[in-house]
Amino acid sequence: MILGIVGSPRKGKVTDQLITKCLEGVEKAGSEAKKVYLIDYPLQSWSEKTKLPEELDQLWVEAEGYIIGAPVYWGSISGLAKDFMDTAKIADVNGKYGLGIAVAGGTGRGLCSGIQTIYRFFYHRKIRAVYPTPVSRFNLQRILSTINDTSRRVAELSRKKNPFEGDQDRMEYYENLQYLNYTYLDEMLLLADQLIEVSPDNPKLSSAKQEYDSAISMIGQGKRKDAIKHAVDAYNMLFFDPPKT
Ligand SMILES: Cc1cc2nc3c(=O)[nH]c(=O)nc-3n(C[C@H](O)[C@H](O)[C@H](O)COP(=O)(O)O)c2cc1C
Repeated sequence: MILGIVGSPRKGKVTDQLITKCLEGVEKAGSEAKKVYLIDYPLQSWSEKTKLPEELDQLWVEAEGYIIGAPVYWGSISGLAKDFMDTAKIADVNGKYGLGIAVAGGTGRGLCSGIQTIYRFFYHRKIRAVYPTPVSRFNLQRILSTINDTSRRVAELSRKKNPFEGDQDRMEYYENLQYLNYTYLDEMLLLADQLIEVSPDNPKLSSAKQEYDSAISMIGQGKRKDAIKHAVDAYNMLFFDPPKT
């Protein structure tokens, strides 16, 4: 069974929609899918006496793989999702597969730092995390149409545990995952790129592209600080006419 965890308190909204699509993919793979809304459980912040509610604890231990969706709040994930992570039992999850989705549904800022929070949890829990998925309003439609293929693959992979041999192996693995080393600048450029993709008719598109290219070129020359202005300009030029999603 693959456990889909909705870390937003808002049922039916973006995180929930993405987890629903993911679980469709899981079922396409012929695996059992189970969705949980963390808001339905009396979760508490970690303390020596805190435990996950029995039912949730059992699902966490039994699941063959995990799909965690969390909304981005101030560049991190919701407290609800974090309370779950802090109190989930230290079970033998080494080598189980995990997929994380972070939803920055406002400005989009924090979509990468949010995904980094989820994948740090996976790293520390020795989960073999795959396909980090940062989501904003700008790439949402694309992700909604592709995420069930991603989750189908996660379900297929989850049939066999793939444990890490040790710290070196695990660190080498995680060093290669996309977005996990992104800085504020990289995140801004990712958002600018997403905006460029969904703004074909925006009159500022070509100026925004020029700013984006300048930022990339400066980064190539090692001038990361100088690249910031161009990345911000590219984003701002298109953000003020955000596409309707
Ligand atoms: C407390 C709070 C902080 C937020 N911070 C951010 C943020 O840093 N970046 C962003 O893009 N959106 C931010 N948002 C907007 C949420 O990411 C957005 O509403 C998202 O769609 C929530 O997921 P949901 O639709 O699944 O509930 C914030 C929302 C709240 C309530």
